[in-house]
Amino acid sequence: MKKQLEKIFNSAVLDIEKATSTEDIEDIKLKYLSRKGELNSIKKNLKDLSEEDKRVVGAFANDIAQKLEDSVKEKYNLIYRKELDVKLQQEKIDITLPGKFIPQGKVHPLTVTTNEIISIFQSLGFSLVQSVNSPEVETEHFNFDMLNFPPDHPAKDMQDTYYTNIAKNVVLRSQTSNAQVREMENNKPPVRVIAPGRVYRNEAVNSRKNNFFHQIEGLYVDKDITFGDLKGVLNEFIRLYFGSSRVTRFRNSFFPFTEPSAEVDVQCIICGGDGCRTCSNTGWLEILGAGMVDVNVLKNCEIDPEVYTGFAFGMGVERLTMLKYAVDDIRLFFNNDVRFLTQF
Ligand code: PHE
Repeated sequence: MKKQLEKIFNSAVLDIEKATSTEDIEDIKLKYLSRKGELNSIKKNLKDLSEEDKRVVGAFANDIAQKLEDSVKEKYNLIYRKELDVKLQQEKIDITLPGKFIPQGKVHPLTVTTNEIISIFQSLGFSLVQSVNSPEVETEHFNFDMLNFPPDHPAKDMQDTYYTNIAKNVVLRSQTSNAQVREMENNKPPVRVIAPGRVYRNEAVNSRKNNFFHQIEGLYVDKDITFGDLKGVLNEFIRLYFGSSRVTRFRNSFFPFTEPSAEVDVQCIICGGDGCRTCSNTGWLEILGAGMVDVNVLKNCEIDPEVYTGFAFGMGVERLTMLKYAVDDIRLFFNNDVRFLTQF
């Protein structure tokens, strides 16, 4: 039996020597060392031996098993490391190769400006209007009538305003001022909000005008609000948005829903005030309309004009962006040319 064991041992040693892969090693383990392997099947015969032989041969068998296990382990480690080296060599990647280019989206310049203006007014105590109070599809009632437009006002003309076929009096709003009315109808003063959004006008498109654009409306109604408050807030806005060196002017104006009314101009950034196509040779560009909320508008919204006063303003987002970044054609904002859009 000892002879048989030696034979098994020798043949196992030979197999281990010849093994070249981890699979070979697994096969060897199975063949010699597993529960049903050759060593175990020999050991089964131990029971037929004398007590003395049982001990000697048993110890010998265990010794062989231990030796084989050790050398199998050693060989396995050797092969494993070799196979790993080969694998690493095969799967080697060149980390100096340039990566795949993934184009990055950017925030649209008008959104950049809108966000900046919103945060300026938030820093001055204004909050964002609820979107339900500032719809783009609007009735003539909120877009015009409640804002003290007389029934025959030219702005209501089909030439100027887009009428929808939803119903006779439903328009695409021509101004964000509709938000003033809805806000005042739905909230008691003090009201201090800004309402950014898109507006539509039936205009011939050129470098200065598009048939839709963006406005930011502002409204502040409370006790003791004066024209001084209006000027203070707007001057502070201009200072924060353009910096203190930009030349601006307040100009007397008219709107049906404010009295008195004013417009604010900024010196043309394209020509520096000398006159050019962008400013129609005036040297100035209008950025906003403003004024004290008309008594009739307060009354329409059931706010007592004896107790409350307020001011409102509306500014053009495209204009403000053009004037900050010297963009000379409004259509660039809507062509979606990435060469333009990625510059901001
Ligand atoms: N709604 C006016 C416009 O579209 C701007 C404006 C808003 C003027 C609020 C006065 C007060 O030009």
